[in-house]
Amino acid sequence: MSNDRNRELDARAREILTGNDRGGYTVPNGRVYPFQWNWDSAFVALGFATFDTDRAWREVETLFEAQWPDGFLPHIVFWKDDPGYFPGPDVWASGRTPPTSGITQPPVAASVVRALWDGVDQGAYLPRLEALFQKLMAWHRWFHDYRDPDKLGVVVAMHPWETGRDNSAEWDAPASAVDVSNVGEYQRRDTSHLDQSMRPTKLDYDRYLALVQFGRATGWNHAAITASNPFRVADVGMTMILLRANRDLLALAEALGRTAAADEIRGWLALAPKAGDYLWDEALGAYCSRDTITGKSCGALTSASFLNFYGGVREPARDKAMLDHAERIGREVGRLMPSLDPADPRFEPLRYWRGPVWAVVNYLVGTGFADAGHADLAERVRRDTGELIAATGFHEAYNPLNSAPSGGDDFSWTAAIWLHWANR
Ligand code: GLC
Repeated sequence: MSNDRNRELDARAREILTGNDRGGYTVPNGRVYPFQWNWDSAFVALGFATFDTDRAWREVETLFEAQWPDGFLPHIVFWKDDPGYFPGPDVWASGRTPPTSGITQPPVAASVVRALWDGVDQGAYLPRLEALFQKLMAWHRWFHDYRDPDKLGVVVAMHPWETGRDNSAEWDAPASAVDVSNVGEYQRRDTSHLDQSMRPTKLDYDRYLALVQFGRATGWNHAAITASNPFRVADVGMTMILLRANRDLLALAEALGRTAAADEIRGWLALAPKAGDYLWDEALGAYCSRDTITGKSCGALTSASFLNFYGGVREPARDKAMLDHAERIGREVGRLMPSLDPADPRFEPLRYWRGPVWAVVNYLVGTGFADAGHADLAERVRRDTGELIAATGFHEAYNPLNSAPSGGDDFSWTAAIWLHWANR
């Protein structure tokens, strides 16, 4: 790519971030997602950090202003209502100010805060780090208290939306146990902005809403949800992301001299081998999410499966199997890393998390490959991400076979990943 083209894309990416900035928080996309989303904001902070340090920190601080007293950090914060989105604050009925959803999202924030901290004048930013550290610690403790009841070292997702990979094939079997007979009538808004063929199906949506109704009926009581939610799936993505985030939080605890917190985090990290064993699917020869109610593997090789490297779960034979999968898939598609193995019969190259490539997941997968010493694969993933963006702009996701865009345009986190990583 020419330097001019690179600079043009840098400028456009900054324009998208500032255009989606609503004052202290950034919407993922002004039309489809008009609120603050949890892991979107974390990635967005990495993008802002390339040109506005204060604004980068502010993004994360604003998100944590919506943290609940038990440490829970919601997946959406409804700072302002917007009729263009369903389900909105009235449906969630969290009873909080600001209104929020009642489920969480992948905990990338601690890793982002560590990256932000590495890039600043640390004397000046120390008070802001101290404040964020306490909040991050409370959120991670919440995961270990409420989302790992059997102490397997995993994160149990209570809703497909929590995983950030809404309609992944991993959730098909576990979600089939969700009773949708009382969901009632509702009007989706996503399909009025976007092509239906790129979105989750009506059955997926019925299940999403049934699970929202279940949580709401408990008054978003996290202990009750842990005990009896109809969907309880150990997510390989959230598990590996939390492991990585715990290592980054440990580094921050050490920098701040918090010895008790550091010991607590080391205790969480000690569970990593157990998590790896629990999530390994022998039949598939890959890491995979597992239904904790039935004990069955979800049986799908997805882009999140490759996050074992990012999470630091290492075992030579399994590493080799994952690398072989990556090489094979790399030969089958134009651009890595498809959100579902193209050899899976459920693969659909344009339907959201059942095939398309997502820049943010590529960033995590590529970072993991690089850290584990697999420089060639890491570089392939990074270059593919950059080329997808350069071809058609900052979309939500991309078709791995022919690079065509999928979903909305002018996406904040795609712009952020470009600025932070893919434009090198
Ligand atoms: C979709 C994605 C999720 C993301 C959100 C906002 O629900 O699946 O990962 O956080 O949109 O971009």
